[in-house]
Amino acid sequence: MLRVVVLASGGGTNLQAVIDGVAAGDITGVMLAGLISNNKTVKSLERARLAGIPAVSVSPKDYEDREAFHRALLAKVDEFEPDLIVLAGFLVAIPEEMVRRYEGRIINIHPSLIPSFCGVGYYGLKVHEKVLERGVKVTGATVHFVTQGMDEGPIISQRAVYIEEGDTPEILQRRVMEQAEWILLPRAIDDIANGRVRMEDGRCKRSE
Ligand code: GAR
Repeated sequence: MLRVVVLASGGGTNLQAVIDGVAAGDITGVMLAGLISNNKTVKSLERARLAGIPAVSVSPKDYEDREAFHRALLAKVDEFEPDLIVLAGFLVAIPEEMVRRYEGRIINIHPSLIPSFCGVGYYGLKVHEKVLERGVKVTGATVHFVTQGMDEGPIISQRAVYIEEGDTPEILQRRVMEQAEWILLPRAIDDIANGRVRMEDGRCKRSE
């Protein structure tokens, strides 16, 4: 059983897709070991607790500086002894030390087709605002391994989603979640848990 720890900041719909995937047997070989949020009062904590997953918050507000927050976050992650860390809408930068310690064992979901609309300042609804501002006709979502550069790690999977007339950032966000994110993330976790996907020599390797 692959021990999976999920990090989430907000609503936790991607977390829910993973919980549902495990419950439905679409994700196999996985044990959801814990949920960590950087916020104290968010839906993702509630979703995890309802599913019987140990859920804790580690908030930057409780620490005097970023370094202390990073130490606390990493200590909490270590406590759960994860084989895989899933950033499912975790909207704060993770400590460099975490990336070093868990190299090849951290994945992230991003709501655009990387390398478009990603990097510093591109997270959550902001991504969709910028997509609409730019007027592109196709967007989507990406699951990738996490390396030191923000949103720069090897890509595991992507799915395209069309922009439609009258889209608002909120409408587009929902469509990207429904048509891409909630499908890609559970599948990527299942692929990793069952040995079909791994990071090797800085690239994503796939074998059936
Ligand atoms: C999702 O759209 C996810 O892709 C995005 O935040 C949202 C979280 O929603 N993540 C990023 O922007 C990371 N750079 P959720 O809490 O309902 O899963």
